[in-house]
Amino acid sequence: MSTVIEVDGVTKRFGALLVIDELSFSLERGEALGVVGPNGAGKTTTLNMIAGDFSPTTGTIRFDGHDVTALPAHRRCRMGIGRTSQVPRPFEGLTVFENVLVGASFGGAHRGHGARDVAVDALRRTGMLARANVRAGELTLLERKRLELSRALSTDPEVLLLDEIAGGLTDGEVMDLIETIKGIHAAGVSIIWIEHIVHALLKVVDRMLAMDYGRKLIEGDPHGVMASDEVKNVYLGTEA
Ligand SMILES: Nc1ncnc2c1ncn2[C@@H]1O[C@H](COP(=O)(O)OP(=O)(O)OP(=O)(O)O)[C@@H](O)[C@H]1O
Ligand SMILES: [Mg+2]
Repeated sequence: MSTVIEVDGVTKRFGALLVIDELSFSLERGEALGVVGPNGAGKTTTLNMIAGDFSPTTGTIRFDGHDVTALPAHRRCRMGIGRTSQVPRPFEGLTVFENVLVGASFGGAHRGHGARDVAVDALRRTGMLARANVRAGELTLLERKRLELSRALSTDPEVLLLDEIAGGLTDGEVMDLIETIKGIHAAGVSIIWIEHIVHALLKVVDRMLAMDYGRKLIEGDPHGVMASDEVKNVYLGTEA
């Protein structure tokens, strides 16, 4: 396996607040990595720095061996880093198809020609093709999550970054979404998936990273990480 994403000694400060503290980990090509940690651990901040929303204060982020630390998000998107947001914000007045077409046209490698085909394919892969002509503002939460996934897929990502895509869904909806994400992973997309719903992660990921206070607590076999003293101590008295 070769490394596709490398987070190397990354620190992030917001003013005086140290949010990410010398964090290093990597994602191998074709791998699905789960990320867990309590609220405020720095998970979303880490994902944002990989996607390019902002740069780390110190440290390096590499994609396919290239230093992308200083590149803006749209450049990283075109290189093959796709992401979903913790809070989906589709264009409510546009249809599902139009929303995905925006990503297919401007976000990824398929600019202009072929964008419609890419959008249709993304909707098919997420089970949203039948909802293509519905306005985004009329979707259920699960459908909004699927639209968010479709938009990310429409940029033809090599790496997909998922931020709590299963949050707020019913158990049955989570099971549906797991199958969709498994399909995307099986098609060869490398995945970093932040999620509080641990049983969902355990059905998909090859490896688990646990974070707290912007640092790596432990990483490794998913079940081993979740059973570790490090993770148990952090979650003692909370949700898990
Ligand atoms: N733009 C910002 N300015 C200042 N502080 C920020 C900013 N973004 C995040 N933080 C702080 O950084 C810390 C980590 O936030 P982050 O959103 O990365 O946590 P998280 O692990 O994703 O949490 P959750 O599980 O609740 O989504 C928090 O203390 C948060 O308040
Ligand atoms: Mg978060």
